[in-house]
Amino acid sequence: MHVPRKGSGPDRRQVLAGLGALSAMPARAQPLPLWAAAASRGLVFGASSSWEVIRDPDYAALHARESRLMVTDKAMKFDFLRPRADVYDFAEADALLAFAREHGMAFRGHTLIWNYAPPPWLAGKSSAEIERIFDDHLETVAGRYAGAMESWDVVNEPFWPDHGAPGGFRRGPWFDAMGEGYIERAFRRVATIDRSATLVLNEAFCEQNDRLGIAVRARMLPLIDRLLDRGVKLDAIGLQAHLKPGLPFEIDAFLRFLDEIAARGLPIYLSEFDIDDESFPRESAKRDALVAEWGARFLGPVLANRAVRAIITWHLSDKYTWYREPQVARRRQRDFAARPLPFDDRMAAKPLRSAMAEAFRAAPAR
Ligand code: XIL
Repeated sequence: MHVPRKGSGPDRRQVLAGLGALSAMPARAQPLPLWAAAASRGLVFGASSSWEVIRDPDYAALHARESRLMVTDKAMKFDFLRPRADVYDFAEADALLAFAREHGMAFRGHTLIWNYAPPPWLAGKSSAEIERIFDDHLETVAGRYAGAMESWDVVNEPFWPDHGAPGGFRRGPWFDAMGEGYIERAFRRVATIDRSATLVLNEAFCEQNDRLGIAVRARMLPLIDRLLDRGVKLDAIGLQAHLKPGLPFEIDAFLRFLDEIAARGLPIYLSEFDIDDESFPRESAKRDALVAEWGARFLGPVLANRAVRAIITWHLSDKYTWYREPQVARRRQRDFAARPLPFDDRMAAKPLRSAMAEAFRAAPAR
């Protein structure tokens, strides 16, 4: 602020400039950052990103202000880290880790093992070769970041019943070579390499009450029990929570599922939260209001369960939502740009942001 020299009153130009600065100030104090609202109840709030947070200063500022946990969107997926058999490309993961450190954020890796989207160079390899590549990948990647990770999604999306495999497992190189045992093998191996990270089994669809969601929930609990019974170091369950209001939804069924996980002593991460607005009216204001309403409807009862420890949005601004990526948008029924996140294209807060902050405040302390 301009301080006039003693004895000389401010001139008219200075007064006007001062008034201008005043009117540009927000009428109310800035709301608590989402991470702080969450932390007041012992919850962690974080968000994912790829290169966008490194390249877009406005997005960087938004993450730095609102989040305390950086999650890799693409950087640590097998096909990104391993464009060719003999290449490990850590550039993006390293940049995101540096960003997290610079801004006092914890760092979460997604995902070591996933049967989805294997790189073409894996095709045609023998089971023995696949096992060797699997072990080498875990040693190299978990080893490189050991000590730096808050958590790892060790295995992502174990189930996809429509593949028809016994047990409803998702097929892909790891399952096809090792069967269900790939899951235990991954957890056991990572537990010996990284002794500080929380080791997470992450799954999608569980909040849906359609055929897929019901089947996956029913498969998850016995899998968790088998791993725990066998003494595997499974530290937490990640539930993606890509909400799809167009699909059947039954909050009580999901809450019972959370209770079952909590009864096994496992913390829960809502690991990829966003709200698909595809089934909502086109007008942005209406869509934003409905997205917020769904956020409140979901988070209120879900955060009442003290086993839920972290909530992570899949990106933070609509500008970078995966639902707008050409290959994802192409499969959508509607031609409008998705608005599934708490901040809009210009990094401004949307009604979902207030709904989230309110749900955090209303949650019981952990
Ligand atoms: C998405 C990425 O955000 C996209 O960039 C990519 O095109 C497809 O995958 N469940 C997951 C995430 O576990 O890895 C997915 O991320 C979203 C669904």
